Formats: sequence, structure tokens, C-alpha cells
Amino acid sequence: MIGNSIYRLYKKIFPDPDTGVEGLLEKGANVKMVNTILKIAKGARLIIKDNVSIEGYSITIEKGEVVLGEQTKLIGKPLEQGRTLLYVQNGSLSISNHCIIKNEFCIRFGGKCIIGAYTGIMEGTEIRVDEEMRIGAYNMISYECMLYDTNTHNYYPKETRRMMTERDFPAIGAEHEKPVTAPVFIGDDCWLGKRCIVLKGVKIGNSAIIAAAAVVTKEIKENYLAYGNPAITKPLTK
Ligand SMILES: CC(C)(COP(=O)(O)OP(=O)(O)OC[C@H]1O[C@@H](n2cnc3c(N)ncnc32)[C@H](O)[C@@H]1OP(=O)(O)O)[C@@H](O)C(=O)NCCC(=O)NCCS
Repeated sequence: MIGNSIYRLYKKIFPDPDTGVEGLLEKGANVKMVNTILKIAKGARLIIKDNVSIEGYSITIEKGEVVLGEQTKLIGKPLEQGRTLLYVQNGSLSISNHCIIKNEFCIRFGGKCIIGAYTGIMEGTEIRVDEEMRIGAYNMISYECMLYDTNTHNYYPKETRRMMTERDFPAIGAEHEKPVTAPVFIGDDCWLGKRCIVLKGVKIGNSAIIAAAAVVTKEIKENYLAYGNPAITKPLTK
């Protein structure tokens, strides 16, 4: 199901000729897509398992693969109110079964992101992966959080950055080299509070709680609470 045949299938669902599926789109049974834009480049793959629903998302896969597990729901905003973007420039994203996904993803430089079953990620949260991020099962990840395994930008001498900015304008800050990265691992049964930040290299143990607005830069042990900036920790007592 590659190329023109997929495009024909796609056109049956989305009459907009400006959006396209040139790569592989594999859809299971009872998949619902509403108000959604797909751009899947040649060679890229989107695999949607049974009973997935996608609403108000724009999904762009330039190179790599996205797999959406059974019963998972991607729920974005109506596109005219601001795009909810799942963007894979180069890499892979695997979302397990029964997840509720309302956040943005940006995956570059061959990054690999895996999300376990029954995990919910709320609106405004941004997940950026340039190397590896593994998020376990049964996690509750709140609104407007930032989960980064990457510095997102490189540090260059100002002359270099100015040259890149002028060359790439209107794209400002487009990176052509991978920034500094370190894998992020989040266990199972965690609760990440609103606007918390998890930075590169962090490992969060099972059943940890990250307080609202905490900035996590170091390992958090299983059953610990992290709070503050930079976050400090104490054991959970209940
Ligand atoms: C600023 C940043 C790039 C620093 O990266 P870096 O130069 O590789 O620095 P390091 O990770 O080695 O951290 C240096 C120290 O600062 C601390 N630190 C880093 N970022 C921090 C933050 N945002 N808040 C509090 N402490 C922070 C680290 O824990 C480390 O502390 P230590 O010396 O006690 O171990 C990175 O931490 C960051 O904030 N990234 C997010 C960038 C962003 O907002 N991107 C959005 C898209 S533009």
C-alpha cells in the first residue's frame, strides 16, 4: 500500500489535495480521523492500529515511523485555533495501547520515543527527542510540561549563528547538527504536575511525583517527590 494507491485511499478520507501521503499509511479497523492533516513523505510510515481516533492533529513524518497503538486517542485543537503538531523530522515514535495524547512532539536526528500503555499527556506539553525518551505505562503527564532529551539548540560563536540565521531566514534556530543530548527515562505510575520541566539525562523512577513547575535536572528515585528549581526531592510518605 505505497504511493498512488495510498494517496487514493487518503483522498477518500481527506479531500484536501494539498496534504499528502506519499509514504506508507497502514490503518487498522475502525480508525477515526477528523479534522486532521497528514503529511507522510516517501519512505516514511504511519501505522495506526485498531480503534485509534485522531482529532484536530497535524502529523508530519519526513523520515521514520510512527506507530499508534490500539484504542489510543490523539485529541488536538481544531486546526484553525492553532495546530497541534506531531512532527517527526527523522526518528521514530511508538505510542502503546489506550493512551490519551493531547501534546506536541518534535523528533529529530534519529531520535526514538516510546510511550507505554494507559499514559495520558495533556495539552500544551512539548516532547522533544533528539536521542531517546522512554515513558512507561499508567503515567499522568499534565499540561504545558516540557520533556526534553536535548538542549534543542547548539551553542555557536555569534558569527556562526548570525551566518546561519541570515542563511536560513525566515527559519531562526534551525539546527543542522545534533545538539547535546542524553536519554530520558520515566518509569510507570508517575504523576508529572503542570508546567514541570524534565531535562536531558534525567531518569524518573516508578510512582514518582513531579510537583507543578519543578525543573528536574537529576535522577528522581522511585516513590519520591521532586519540587523546586532545580528540583530537590523527598520520599513520598503515603
Ligand atoms: C540551558 C541548557 C541548554 C543548558 O544545557 P548545558 O549547557 O548542556 O548545561 P548542563 O546540562 O551541563 O547543566 C549545567 C548545570 O545547570 C543545571 N541546569 C541546566 N538547565 C537548567 C534549568 N533549565 N534550570 C535549572 N538548572 C539547570 C544543571 O543541572 C547543571 O547543574 P550542575 O552543574 O549542578 O550539575 C538546558 O539545560 C536547557 O534549559 N534546555 C532547554 C532549552 C529550551 O528551553 N529549549 C526550548 C526550545 S528553544
